Amino acid sequence: MQETFDVVGVGCCAVDTLGIYEGPIEEDQKMQVYGTTRQGGGLVATGLVAVARLGGRARFIGKLGDDDHARFIVNEFRSEGVDTSCIRTAPGMSAIRTIGVINPSKGFRTLYYCLDDAPVVNPGEVRRADVIAGKVLFVDGFQVAAAIRAAEYARKEGMAILMDAELTPPENDRLAALSTHVVASLRFAQSRVGKCDFQTAARKYFRKLSAADPDKVVAVTSGAKGSYFVWRGGEFHQPAFKPPKIVDTTGCGDVFHGAFAYALSQEMELKKAAELAAAVAALKCRKLGGRAGIPSLPETKAFLRSARKG
Ligand SMILES: Nc1ncnc2c1ncn2[C@@H]1O[C@H](COP(=O)(O)OP(=O)(O)OP(=O)(O)O)[C@@H](O)[C@H]1O
Ligand SMILES: [Mg+2]
Repeated sequence: MQETFDVVGVGCCAVDTLGIYEGPIEEDQKMQVYGTTRQGGGLVATGLVAVARLGGRARFIGKLGDDDHARFIVNEFRSEGVDTSCIRTAPGMSAIRTIGVINPSKGFRTLYYCLDDAPVVNPGEVRRADVIAGKVLFVDGFQVAAAIRAAEYARKEGMAILMDAELTPPENDRLAALSTHVVASLRFAQSRVGKCDFQTAARKYFRKLSAADPDKVVAVTSGAKGSYFVWRGGEFHQPAFKPPKIVDTTGCGDVFHGAFAYALSQEMELKKAAELAAAVAALKCRKLGGRAGIPSLPETKAFLRSARKG
């Protein structure tokens, strides 16, 4: 079958309002932030924007309300070239909203998110044809029932399925079992294998998932320490690249996963895919917000060339 999209995503889609504040966060105080921004956010949604910036064809499947927040999200997807034809509208509802404070000098960010009036996607609302129009399915464990349905369709079709494993509820284990590639945050991996460093977590989590599916590819990411990949062919550490400057690390994980999904759709070799993902995530840090700093493919290639020269 000729796929229309490189990556099709089902998962978290949000709108982020962020500001910079470098002091301590104190309760019951007024604190002045600067450099505020409003950008689309959410794991899969931001990852799909990374796919599009890299030149991939991306589609989001989901449901949003019809208020200002929801319209903002859809308009931003459209301006980034992400397909919105599979976004249903739930009248009177909204979308996930995040308020965040970024501290660039410490590299901290504090995010508050609100799920009130954010629509839930029912599994029956996921159409098989919409999913299998992609080479890769990209899920994150939000909208988990719908994501599981999409992953069941994708599995039957032999598609690659990338899971950004960050949410810990138990249904996400079913999604991980269906996925061909599980790239987990350290906290998620530790929730499944116990407290340990990210390399050990990746090995242990691979052992766990590969018992039922020996072809599974597992990775654990750990911020500036990079990521560790384990699969039946071996294991390796992908170091994080030094960003040109660090304004904000919000969305590094989302963008890493999006770039990795793009690389899978291009059938890149695993080490090259991990390297591309790390480079895209590092470049993202140069601007405030999850999306503003996401690079194009030529920018990423130029960054990789200069990083190799040392
Ligand atoms: N400060 C940083 N400098 C350079 N690269 C980074 C930095 N933080 C993250 N990255 C890159 O992004 C990848 C994923 O980051 P991280 O492990 O923080 O994801 P996460 O836990 O899913 O976080 P989030 O989704 O909240 O952004 C890392 O493996 C690394 O390659
Ligand atoms: Mg993440």
